Amino acid sequence: MYKIINAKQLTDTIFEMEVEAARVAKACQPGQFVIVRTDEEGERIPLTICDYDREKGTITIVFQIVGAATQMMAGLKAGDAFQDFVGPLGCPSEFVSEDLENLKKKKMLFVAGGVGTAPVYPQVKWLHEHGIEADVIVGAKTKDLLILEKEMEAVAGNLYVTTDDGSYGRSGMVTQTIQDLVNEGKHYDVCVAIGPMIMMKFVCKLTKELNLPTIVSLNPIMVDGTGMCGACRVSVGGKVKFACVDGPEFDGHEVDFDEAMQRQQIYKTAEGRAFLKAKEGASHHGGCGNCN
Ligand code: NAD
Ligand code: FES
Repeated sequence: MYKIINAKQLTDTIFEMEVEAARVAKACQPGQFVIVRTDEEGERIPLTICDYDREKGTITIVFQIVGAATQMMAGLKAGDAFQDFVGPLGCPSEFVSEDLENLKKKKMLFVAGGVGTAPVYPQVKWLHEHGIEADVIVGAKTKDLLILEKEMEAVAGNLYVTTDDGSYGRSGMVTQTIQDLVNEGKHYDVCVAIGPMIMMKFVCKLTKELNLPTIVSLNPIMVDGTGMCGACRVSVGGKVKFACVDGPEFDGHEVDFDEAMQRQQIYKTAEGRAFLKAKEGASHHGGCGNCN
């Protein structure tokens, strides 16, 4: 069992928990994720790691209530425990293994949307700890939905907060702020965008026009998290990839976002999965424990 050390409500529907998971904390890197289950019957929920403390042996996760399983998770308190806490899964962010001197020469822009701010945080923190100050845009629908502002401020070179309704910070969506920064004369070598699929699609559309290489972190439906079930299949550069083992980070300009969003919807029902099986042929593994 994996004990919850701290549990905090960040907004009406977003929660933060610090969980005792020493082996995950020892091995994890920015960009990786965990799959958690509240109990033996519970749904497996993939969550990108928001923070880790190797000395304390803890992992911080941030999640939003989107269904019954996350609603149940939100009811857990400090002292309760998760049945499963599997990780670290997926590949670490590429920059972690890049030559540090080369990395220091790059101007990086991070674009975080809504709950996607949580997985952006450990990446910017890692860079800050290695002497690299990245610019960060954090977007939320409205002021009350903004998360981790203080934490991000402490590790970002420049932090630009934007709300869709103009209730706090700049006004408009993250894409507006990217365009504004470029218009103001800012130059970036690489952009990392993490948030809802629709946000990443439009960030990539813009950065392609701006000739700015962009990495995105995909979070399609995941079941096993080991490349076996096929649930997280995505098309990148015309090739079949599985977000859990080949990602979750990919070249955003190569991702077929429309297919990924459509597949995410279709995969939710048994009928939809049968349709995908017929459509995707041998590369469809069955999903959801149907392998036998
Ligand atoms: P949201 O809908 O509140 O959007 C956050 C921000 O994204 C907005 O404020 C806006 O600036 C930007 N955005 C949204 N639509 C846009 C568009 N069409 N063009 C340009 N910018 C746009 O976000 P939310 O409710 O926090 O997001 C929830 C979704 O994020 C869930 O579907 C969840 O699965 C996903 N998510 C993804 C990751 C990941 O790793 N990619 C991590 C956590 C959550
Ligand atoms: Fe990626 Fe199953 S979750 S293949």
